[in-house]
Amino acid sequence: MLTLEKNIDTFVEKFLITPEKIWQPTDFLPNSQSDTFIEEIKEIKELSKDLDDDFWTVLVGDTITEEALPTYESWLLDINGVSQHTNPNGGGDNGWAKWLRAWTGEENRHGDVLNKYIYLSGRVNMREVEITTQHLIADGFDIGTARDPYKNFVYTSFQELATYISHNNVAKIARKNGHKLLAKMSKIIAGDEMRHHLAYTEFIKQIFQHDPSEMMLAFQYMMKHKIVMPAMNLRHSGEEKGCLFDQFSAVAQRAGVYTGFDYVDIIKKLNTTWEIDKISGLTAEAEKARDYLMKLPERMYRITERIIVPDTKYNFKWINPIT
Ligand SMILES: [Fe+2]
Ligand SMILES: [Fe+2]
Repeated sequence: MLTLEKNIDTFVEKFLITPEKIWQPTDFLPNSQSDTFIEEIKEIKELSKDLDDDFWTVLVGDTITEEALPTYESWLLDINGVSQHTNPNGGGDNGWAKWLRAWTGEENRHGDVLNKYIYLSGRVNMREVEITTQHLIADGFDIGTARDPYKNFVYTSFQELATYISHNNVAKIARKNGHKLLAKMSKIIAGDEMRHHLAYTEFIKQIFQHDPSEMMLAFQYMMKHKIVMPAMNLRHSGEEKGCLFDQFSAVAQRAGVYTGFDYVDIIKKLNTTWEIDKISGLTAEAEKARDYLMKLPERMYRITERIIVPDTKYNFKWINPIT
């Protein structure tokens, strides 16, 4: 972490964008200062009737997942090698803390823009959404990485790509249904996620150069543990922690927004990006981990093929019926 930290300014410059230059939520929303504001909202409300409940459920779940950003920031700021203390004994505010704050600043726009959009759609019971969000932040999560930076960066490499896929698929469905604004918005969020994915995979690439065996073992550990979704603890108002996650996940799969096959494709892509077949200088244990990882996509693909996604109609408290 100390070695990589020396290049943090280059990373920030290469992978992140300053507030003045990057898009802001307002760029994609009706302007409340304009005379056409009400008309524009009416149009959004009309269009929103054409998209089905599954679609709205996924969009709301994605929004809530983005809105739980405090969980992710506090988790990542706690990784070994990250320090945000000014106390000299605490290591001082370091480059990694700077990276994470800048990353958080970018991510914060995602929940912001989506929240405003679903609010304007008229399809969503915002109070229920807000209760779920508050619960999700209070419940936190445990992604099984402990404070290990290698494992955490495997997680973020994976998760940024997963969010890219899901926002990108939302964009496609929205476009197909004539929802241009939502399509543009989701597409541009997906672009941010891709940029973040490239950054985190770059960190891992560099770690592989310095510490190949430990990096390989960390990667294997995370794949065996499975990448749990950030919204693992999702619940409705008045329900137990985590009650809603399986239903949400089933809806996301049948809507084609994020499926088991996407999960497998991500593993495949990470194997390729990190060229794990070409990494040399591994210990015997790390060689075995590599073998495991190389075979994993194929194995998981066969398992995924056998999984049947339920088509049960779930009642999500977040969704307003069309009136
Ligand atoms: Fe995001
Ligand atoms: Fe992200």
